[in-house]
Amino acid sequence: MMNFNLELPTHLFFGKEQHLQIGNLIPVNAKILMTYGGGSIKKNGVYQNIRAALKNHQVTEFGGIEANPEYSTLCKALEIIKTEKIDFLLAVGGGSVIDGTKFLSSAALFQGEDPWEILDKGIRTETGMPFGVVLTLPATGSEMNSGAVISRKEIGQKRAMGGPGLFPKFSISDPSVVASLPQRQLANGLVDAFTHVMEQYMTYPTSATLQDRISEGILTTLIEIAPKVMDAPDDYNTAANFMWCCNMALNGIIQKGVPNDWSIHGIGHELTAAYGIDHARTLAIVLPSMYRYKINQKQEKLAQYGRRVLGLSGDDLSIASEAIDRTEAFFNSLGIGTKITDYNIDKPQEFPAKICDAMEAQRAIILGEHKDIKRDDVFNVLNMAI
Ligand code: NZQ
Ligand code: ZN
Repeated sequence: MMNFNLELPTHLFFGKEQHLQIGNLIPVNAKILMTYGGGSIKKNGVYQNIRAALKNHQVTEFGGIEANPEYSTLCKALEIIKTEKIDFLLAVGGGSVIDGTKFLSSAALFQGEDPWEILDKGIRTETGMPFGVVLTLPATGSEMNSGAVISRKEIGQKRAMGGPGLFPKFSISDPSVVASLPQRQLANGLVDAFTHVMEQYMTYPTSATLQDRISEGILTTLIEIAPKVMDAPDDYNTAANFMWCCNMALNGIIQKGVPNDWSIHGIGHELTAAYGIDHARTLAIVLPSMYRYKINQKQEKLAQYGRRVLGLSGDDLSIASEAIDRTEAFFNSLGIGTKITDYNIDKPQEFPAKICDAMEAQRAIILGEHKDIKRDDVFNVLNMAI
């Protein structure tokens, strides 16, 4: 097993009515900026609950953070942080609101001229403005980790950032919110979490036996609960297992001591930047083609997944191949298309070159657990996904 450091400083409050804790978690003299998205929190009662729980606190609001949080919107929130002398942030929403708030946490204390440098130059955030999270959408794991992804439409980019200063101080994760999610977001959450596990697991065999078994446990659970999540999102125990799987998939535990891939996410972010396709759906487009393209290199691990998670039998290569087909069928069963042509984009034949050009404009393409996925490979994988 490889050496690793693990620090999980976020205090997680998981379960029903956990928002009632929030008044005790934020200093009473704090000047809070509460951030949220397009308004779903006002329809499902989360907004009213949080405002009531913070009735003794001084709260300024900033709504309108969009899916794939947009830099120009966040710059407006940054102005408010400065003029109102805000010293605590509270993100109430899904991955986009949480990620946008992580950017604000970093940018509020950033000493440079232009906060875009944090993303453009990959500056790690060692210290950020303290913030807490109220999660409304299980998917990204952003409620427990220190990463964020920010979009900037005017230059067609979606860039990642992170650092030890960006762990939430606390995370309120009440599975009851799953009941209010539309089918599209339920399916997205399942596929995003599933792919997070795959990016940390589907590499090559190592001696990290426990990490493999935890990953396989999350994958098995996601497959098992998926139909129920879609059919009965108001079933509390199903929702709780869903939310905990999403958290465990990207809270840092399963990535430690093992090789990581993350090529599917790297390419997926470019598909969102270029075409606005939902994050999880970009992963569903790239994953089957990537694994078919890499079947020889990933064969042993694909076969292990096929045997242990999908219950397949046979020789390694035939299990590996069937495991990819079954994974694609799983995504399709959730109503998620796995080809770019499922997404109604202009000139699909041109998309592989367009995506490769966009990636190369930012940095040389070097992806995968062996750092051997280069431009030609990305081009070939995307051609397989048309
Ligand atoms: O904006 P509102 O009105 O809140 O509506 C949102 C949004 O339209 C809605 N929604 C959220 N909770 C709801 C709800 N609707 C009804 N009931 C609720 N309880 O869902 C829509 C999508 O929300 P969004 O936050 O965009 O979804 P998600 O959580 O999937 O986040 C996606 C973003 O996270 C990034 C993605 O790239 C993308 O930008 N990721 C962040 C990661 C991280 N920080 O670790 C890792 C991921 O791989 C991912 O890259
Ligand atoms: Zn993801």
